[in-house]
Amino acid sequence: MTSIRHVVRTFLSACLRPARLKLAPRYIDWPDIWAKDAAFIDAMAKIEGVTLVPRERCFVLHQLARTLEGSNGDFAEIGVYKGGTAYLTARAAPGKTIHLFDTFEGMPEVDAGIDAHRTGDFADTRYDDVRSFLAPFRERIAFHKGFFPATAAGLEEKTFALVYVDVDIYQSVKDALAFFYPRLVPGGVMLFDDFDSPKCQGVRKAIDEFLADKPERPVVTAYYQAMIIKAAAVS
Ligand SMILES: C[S@@+](CC[C@H](N)C(=O)[O-])C[C@H]1O[C@@H](n2cnc3c(N)ncnc32)[C@H](O)[C@@H]1O
Repeated sequence: MTSIRHVVRTFLSACLRPARLKLAPRYIDWPDIWAKDAAFIDAMAKIEGVTLVPRERCFVLHQLARTLEGSNGDFAEIGVYKGGTAYLTARAAPGKTIHLFDTFEGMPEVDAGIDAHRTGDFADTRYDDVRSFLAPFRERIAFHKGFFPATAAGLEEKTFALVYVDVDIYQSVKDALAFFYPRLVPGGVMLFDDFDSPKCQGVRKAIDEFLADKPERPVVTAYYQAMIIKAAAVS
């Protein structure tokens, strides 16, 4: 890919030279950056066709998982579907326990006034298949099958270093923030898929409403993705 681009640029530069015109400087593309990360490339090969999440957003999740592996607290993912991003996270942070939340039977009730998704979307997954896919990490994965936040009962005393939220709908994002934000360690991260996506307008709405009286602000990390980093309490 890179070498084709190089050939095209060389050709275009040669064409423009007689007219003393120059191509704009070439900035480094994302693929050039992740191509240097063999662990990421390898993990992506395993989840191609399993995850719905584009590569550049997966790359952010992979890096955060590696970075936060040394922090106190567990990891969690809400919105697992076929297990693609869960696989990526589990592989990037071999020392971490990961809590996985999904109905594994499709979207729960949606708010038709806000959400574009319908109840039952993403039902083309099977809990047993996801468990098999994630079997290499079985000792440190806790499955919480069913409707979140009800499935978080019993985890009230846990703290979290990284929470990946990929639920697409308003109420689920709101519920994820209500449960996990108070349990995030200082410097811990909640990473949200579909931030500002026109197809998932409830994601940003829920985040903006929740953060209105908090010190954190969303940090955009990629197209339709943002994170919040838990601030340390000021004494
Ligand atoms: C876009 S998919 C997740 C994609 C996945 N991260 C991947 O790697 O492809 C969204 C998932 O969120 C789940 N979901 C949304 N709200 C939920 C809730 N309140 N409780 C449980 N699962 C929920 C749906 O069942 C669906 O499987």
